[in-house]
Amino acid sequence: MAAPARSGQIQASTHWQRFSVPYEVPVVFTEGLFDPDNPVLRDALCRLEPDKRHRAVVFVDDGLIAAHPQLLASIAAYAQRHADAIDLVREPIAVPGGEKIKSDLHFVESAQQTLFELHIDRHSFVIAIGGGAVLDAIGLVAATTHRGVRHIRIPTTVLSQNDSGVGVKNGVNLHGVKNFVGSFAPPFAVLNDLDFVAALPDRDKIAGMAEAVKVALIRDAEFFLWIERHSDDLATFERAAMARMIRRCAELHMHQISHGGDPFESGSARPLDYGHWSAHKLESLTRNHVRHGEAVAIGMALDARYAVLAGLLAPGVEERICALLEYLGFELWHPALAKEGASGELVILEGLSEFREHLGGELTITLLADIGVGVEVHEIDHVLMRQALDWVRVRASG
Ligand SMILES: NC(=O)c1ccc[n+]([C@@H]2O[C@H](COP(=O)([O-])OP(=O)(O)OC[C@H]3O[C@@H](n4cnc5c(N)ncnc54)[C@H](O)[C@@H]3O)[C@@H](O)[C@H]2O)c1
Ligand SMILES: [Zn+2]
Repeated sequence: MAAPARSGQIQASTHWQRFSVPYEVPVVFTEGLFDPDNPVLRDALCRLEPDKRHRAVVFVDDGLIAAHPQLLASIAAYAQRHADAIDLVREPIAVPGGEKIKSDLHFVESAQQTLFELHIDRHSFVIAIGGGAVLDAIGLVAATTHRGVRHIRIPTTVLSQNDSGVGVKNGVNLHGVKNFVGSFAPPFAVLNDLDFVAALPDRDKIAGMAEAVKVALIRDAEFFLWIERHSDDLATFERAAMARMIRRCAELHMHQISHGGDPFESGSARPLDYGHWSAHKLESLTRNHVRHGEAVAIGMALDARYAVLAGLLAPGVEERICALLEYLGFELWHPALAKEGASGELVILEGLSEFREHLGGELTITLLADIGVGVEVHEIDHVLMRQALDWVRVRASG
């Protein structure tokens, strides 16, 4: 309804337009995704139009190809077996894995150019297979080409299967700021294949577990106890334990997106980003030599100690968290944390304002009140945070 308003000579009438769009994203856990007998990928493509032959272009993480040299042939064989449903418009395209693809817009442009040349339209599919970085970059390509092409994510690292792949965000880095350019764009489907994780280097298996500890700490004490009880199995990457850990972590992330009330993060809070304000800064300070998960582990140790110093968390709980993280294989200190700027202030503390700026609004940091209980605070005492950093440093050197 038009609502005329008058203010002096100025006339204005506001027409409220309201609509909501329901999203439904299948997240599938499987093994042997490209085994020609596995229907998961075919079913995902055919979900809305079962009788159509679907055009698809596939981008594959080159680090993944190096670890699975037979992968490209398997994809081709799968498409051939399901040729009635899948029209692979060209052979899969290798793209740089890791932060490299997110750190140069050239890769985004070049993928968009490919979609242009292949006449990919909104009913075609862009499939991304790889770690979180490749999914973030190709997700952005899919979301922006023709304002949104159907996008299937096939995450291949622990972190992308239990966290980023099941989320709704994409993005690349610009001006030295992580995820400066990106969008919220739920994928068409997410297909997790445990076999990819099994062949991942140990370092990446460990790194991805940080997100499971994180979401357990802020949301699910029972899951934290489970991780503690199975820390031997997880530290040795036992398959069933890894599968359980990935799935529970993904479920908790999915629950936050569908029930948290703010899937596109328009508020000031990033409720699942416990330990992340310093992690993002540490990643950029080390030019991504520290992996996201490794930085998050340190960030969680730091914020746990801070919570104790601030009187939020019972003393001793921070030690329990640190001991678990170390047992899983994390190192809880990096020399870049001690770096000072010209003013003598610790550079890592700039991460607080950068974290706020990324969202806008009020600084909102999730801390712990107990295991399984995240609480939001809007102020961080720099003196206490320095003390927390000292504690983490001294502890790691002991
Ligand atoms: N969009 C989101 O919501 C969100 C959330 C968390 C993290 N992220 C982003 O995810 C990225 C980190 O993702 P990641 O931890 O998956 O690491 P990654 O994508 O950086 O990959 C790490 C390395 O593993 C290689 N690789 C990938 N799969 C492999 C496999 N199965 N076997 C062997 N090697 C393989 C890659 O080539 C790369 O060299 C960061 O850029 C981070 O910002 C995004
Ligand atoms: Zn994270």
